[in-house]
Amino acid sequence: MHFTVTPSRVRDAVVTVPGDKSISHRALMLGSIADGRTEVEGFLAGDDCLATLSAMRSLGVEIDQPGPSQMSISGVGLHGLRAPNSPLDLGNSGTAMRLMAGLLSGQTFDSELSGDESLSGRPMGRIITPLTQMGAQIKSRSGKPPLNIRGVGKLKAIDYALPMASAQVKSAVLLAGLYAEGITSVTEPAVTRDHTERMLRSMGAEVRSEGGIIRLAGGQKMTGQAIAVPADLSSAAFVMLAAILAKKADIKIQNVGVNPTRTGVITILHAMGADLTLENPRMLGDEPVADIRVRSSQLNGGIVDPGLVSLAIDEFPVLFVAAAAASGKTVFSGISELRVKESDRIGAMAEGMRSLGINVDETDDGAIVHGGRFSGGRVNSHGDHRVAMSLALAGTVASAAVTVEDVNAVDTSFPGFCALMSDIGVDIRQSGVG
Ligand code: S3P
Repeated sequence: MHFTVTPSRVRDAVVTVPGDKSISHRALMLGSIADGRTEVEGFLAGDDCLATLSAMRSLGVEIDQPGPSQMSISGVGLHGLRAPNSPLDLGNSGTAMRLMAGLLSGQTFDSELSGDESLSGRPMGRIITPLTQMGAQIKSRSGKPPLNIRGVGKLKAIDYALPMASAQVKSAVLLAGLYAEGITSVTEPAVTRDHTERMLRSMGAEVRSEGGIIRLAGGQKMTGQAIAVPADLSSAAFVMLAAILAKKADIKIQNVGVNPTRTGVITILHAMGADLTLENPRMLGDEPVADIRVRSSQLNGGIVDPGLVSLAIDEFPVLFVAAAAASGKTVFSGISELRVKESDRIGAMAEGMRSLGINVDETDDGAIVHGGRFSGGRVNSHGDHRVAMSLALAGTVASAAVTVEDVNAVDTSFPGFCALMSDIGVDIRQSGVG
């Protein structure tokens, strides 16, 4: 399937984007091992979280879907999961695989985790190393999926210093820590999203975070909760980009998660001169939310603070397109983690933007994007949802139509992307078979 976007007049609007992907995964996993019922509202019914849903069901958890974005989970307690009958297929989702590996390492039964072609090429050594130190037995194909996890029953706590800033690795160790004897600690080299810690606490577990170290004792029981999932800031970023690039638009995105461990994209866009404000800030359960108001803006390039990278890790494809529309050059560094996402996002974005007439100098851990004017053309998403959506939006301000090939993966995080973009005036067509 592909998208074709022609130069568009984006208009004023009030919109809502789908639920947060990270929080939706965690609601399913933690709700499953809590005692009692967890009712989830605002769940992201995208392919990634649906893969986690079917994995939890295969582990014996009863989960109903009373509405399109509602989940009702009958928690089985810390030790209530059952052996699955077949390998758990986690599709395209790195979060599902890494967090599930942590969860399954301390079970009494064996399990196998597999994924699609993209996920099968992603590094799992980063979770295998700490989990093995905790006593887990995991076989992989040279550090890549599929993962075969032995049911060793009990783990031991470790103090682990993360070699890279990764919420997925942190969360895998914390989930395994629930099944370990003693106090597990994780030290982060930079702050990463803390949704796991917040949700564990809201379910009654004690989790301490101090000076970049997160500690939790094994064996803690949790209680099911009502969880309201905020709209996903990472999806809102595409609407923000459409509004910023537009000639004259004023868009409000409602109820968006603005957890400070996620808002790097807002800080970076502000520094580039974006007209973007947070209205009506409030708490939705344990997560801060706000309505994001964004208006068309003339952006300026500059040096993007590498200290913000872990707070904006999924928004660099959006920021690359923003940089191309900015005056002058924008320097990105410290983003080598982007090379091991759903695609090599530095390579995929540089290739796509170059074929649309933008000068991009690629470096090992970043890129220099020279502001310019997008031409029309045909580009490939490399099967990456965020690359697909970012390049599609370049089409709104290009001199001719932009076609983005291989966009099926958009449904992993942003079902309804095309319809929502059409609603705000983006001239987008989806064609071909999926
Ligand atoms: C996620 C963490 C990030 C992010 C991913 C979701 C999570 O990955 O890129 O989309 O839900 O924990 P890393 O923590 O590996 O950077």
